[in-house]
Amino acid sequence: MNELLLGQPVLVTGAASGIGRAVALRLAADGRSLALLDRDTDNLAVAAKEAEAGGAGEVVPLAADVTHAAGVAAALDRAVDALGPLAGLVSAAGILEPGGLADVTPESWQRHLDVNTTGVLTLLQQGAPRLRDGGAIVVISSNAARVPRTGMLAYAASKAATSALARCAGLELAARGIRCNVLEPGSTDTPMQRDLWPDPEAGRRAALEGDPGAFRVGIPLGRIARPEDVAEVAAFLLSDAARHVTLQQLFVDGGASL
Ligand SMILES: NC(=O)c1ccc[n+]([C@@H]2O[C@H](COP(=O)([O-])OP(=O)(O)OC[C@H]3O[C@@H](n4cnc5c(N)ncnc54)[C@H](O)[C@@H]3O)[C@@H](O)[C@H]2O)c1
Repeated sequence: MNELLLGQPVLVTGAASGIGRAVALRLAADGRSLALLDRDTDNLAVAAKEAEAGGAGEVVPLAADVTHAAGVAAALDRAVDALGPLAGLVSAAGILEPGGLADVTPESWQRHLDVNTTGVLTLLQQGAPRLRDGGAIVVISSNAARVPRTGMLAYAASKAATSALARCAGLELAARGIRCNVLEPGSTDTPMQRDLWPDPEAGRRAALEGDPGAFRVGIPLGRIARPEDVAEVAAFLLSDAARHVTLQQLFVDGGASL
């Protein structure tokens, strides 16, 4: 356990699954206190128990939907009441519904914006006043924010807006010594990724080797990321080791965005 991280609580959204859960468990191993927010209450309870067992200080599960601003504000208040002013915020909650130019529906477009973009704006707007000066923010966007993908139009657009809004927010928050960085993962082995692959082996092969029909070049490192690969980078960006790093958009995708 890193003694310096005791008393530096972090709030993680999307903490019930995949990358958000991996971030929570990685921070737990450092002994951080955690506020874990998700709308999936059953899996949130499981992740909270895992974080406690994994060495976290205090763990506060927060059942909330990032599209409900009042609920997010109330959840942040509960986190601060229990843990004190936050040292970090991690935004990992997100959705992906396949759809391209011809078939994306207005409803699906709006859902992506509501969760992936406005949800992040809400977290940063509500979270910044509850964050200590000198704190850190990590926003999980996607490499689709900068690399066009077939069949992911609304998702990619929502993530591009998210990467931009996070860096603009970070520019304003720099005056308080708050750092704000964006992680842009590629294919990562989580429920979101598995849902995209009706045939898991074919999907995996197309991601690794590339798929000319979908204009994908493959993954040079030859592996699908584990959620822990992204969590490790998030933990670094939250830590004092990254004290002079802010406003960055970092691909964590094995080179897939070349
Ligand atoms: N898995 C990948 O290949 C991949 C690649 C690039 C980026 N990402 C991004 O990483 C983040 C985490 O994705 P994941 O793969 O772990 O997905 P996941 O589906 O495993 O987990 C997402 C979590 O977000 C929660 N969530 C969704 N909408 C919410 C809402 N409105 N309010 C509160 N919680 C909500 C879900 O309940 C779930 O627990 C997402 O932002 C995703 O876009 C994932």
